Amino acid sequence: MEISPNVQAIAYLVSAVLFIFALKGLTHPASARRGNYYGMIGMAIAIAATLLGSGVKNYGLIAAGVGAGAVIGAVVALRIQMTAMPQLVAALHSFVGLAAVLVAIGTFLNHKAGGAVDALLMTELSAGVIIGAITCTGSVIAFGKLQGLISGKPVVFKGQHALNALIGLVTVALGVHFAMTGSAVSLALMTVLAFVLGVTLIIPIGGADMPVIISMLNSYSGWAAAATGFTLKNELLIIVGALVGFSGAILSFIMCKAMNRSILNVVFGGFGTESSGGDTNAAAQAAQQGVKSASVEDAIYWMEDAGKVIVVPGYGMAVAQAQHALKDLMELLEARGVAVKFAIHPVAGRMPGHMNVLLAEADIPYDRVLEMDEINPEFATTDVALVIGANDVVNPAAKTDPSSPIYGMPILEAGKARQVYFVKRSMRPGYSGVDNLLFYQDNCALIFGDAKDVCEGLAAALKGGGH
Ligand code: TAP
Repeated sequence: MEISPNVQAIAYLVSAVLFIFALKGLTHPASARRGNYYGMIGMAIAIAATLLGSGVKNYGLIAAGVGAGAVIGAVVALRIQMTAMPQLVAALHSFVGLAAVLVAIGTFLNHKAGGAVDALLMTELSAGVIIGAITCTGSVIAFGKLQGLISGKPVVFKGQHALNALIGLVTVALGVHFAMTGSAVSLALMTVLAFVLGVTLIIPIGGADMPVIISMLNSYSGWAAAATGFTLKNELLIIVGALVGFSGAILSFIMCKAMNRSILNVVFGGFGTESSGGDTNAAAQAAQQGVKSASVEDAIYWMEDAGKVIVVPGYGMAVAQAQHALKDLMELLEARGVAVKFAIHPVAGRMPGHMNVLLAEADIPYDRVLEMDEINPEFATTDVALVIGANDVVNPAAKTDPSSPIYGMPILEAGKARQVYFVKRSMRPGYSGVDNLLFYQDNCALIFGDAKDVCEGLAAALKGGGH
């Protein structure tokens, strides 16, 4: 069966509308599942309409590609840990970039066989190759950094910006030459240089900034797809590419704002250190530094009769997968008449919405989960702030220490609660690598241990009748 171009156009329009509904759905945890369904239906319609269109010549090859991709995709998706999601996304972006490069080169070779140079087409191909190649190698480097295959620290050297600018200028010049002449040599050189630029642009970016870069590479992959859409005369690919391109750019901007960084500051080399290994004598080290440590029993003493407890989850909750234990704790506290709320910082964890996804997975009701601006006024009337595996997002240095690299970042004001308990394994700092001034405040104590173990300990102590 083959559908007419008109039917295909209508199907693409329906898909595009469904993709827009999908994005709308993904803006809130409560509607995210529905948003995903819209996206899946939209994609199914898009694939079916493309396969049934007149341009398809070889179904065997397509079936082999779809089959192999589906198997690999399903296995990877089933095995991936939530905390490793950013690197999976990076790996997938590299494929989008590579696909854009291959489509452009393939189109050029077909066109070459047909004769005269079409300047408009060659311009589209230049854009596809340059954006695609930068996305491809940039995403490979981002994947390597996040997966720990290469150092996550910024790699900086003298003259780096000048070198990047030079490579960028020569690449664009080759692109213009290619668009005017259709020269295969220019295309080859431009492709190689754009691949190199992807590497040199991403290596100077450090640990804490990686999520922003992933979001930016996501945006680039959208623009690469849109350029491919022009090449293939596929309106849906243009629309979807633009949606991804803009949403990635907007997300990068929002993340930068939440960290009080400018996007240029992130793109041209950042701060950030890697945190590492365990610490055997955390309590002794804490005492030496004048920081109080506490036990599960101490915390229960405060929490069991509290009017309100606010939980501040962070990256450590994700690492420990403590969300289910937290849900049990919430239910036990609520059964005792304690009001429990969760405070979400926009950059808590390692990717946007990281905490929301995990809390939703544990079926923690959305009305208990509040964003920073909503919850901040409540800390002053809260008995206990329980900070689970979070660090930077509650560090008052962001407000009081102009020399701190996180100065200016809005924070959750957990320190205003009557009593603050941190749950973490050691005295090591968070992702930005800076000491947390809240540890030294009178109303604060650290419970050393894995987030899940401590939450389970707290729940067990409450079940056992409390203090
Ligand atoms: P962090 O400041 O990174 O602190 C996480 C804490 O979790 C660490 O202090 C660590 O201390 C603790 N931890 C690790 N594993 C643990 C475990 N198994 N059990 C208990 N504790 C554990 O996290 P945060 O407060 O969520 O802040 C996020 C950081 O990432 C910010 O600096 C933010 O700027 C950056 N960032 C995030 C994003 C997005 S989109 N989320 C984007 C860009 C940058 P121990 O090692 O002592 O246990």
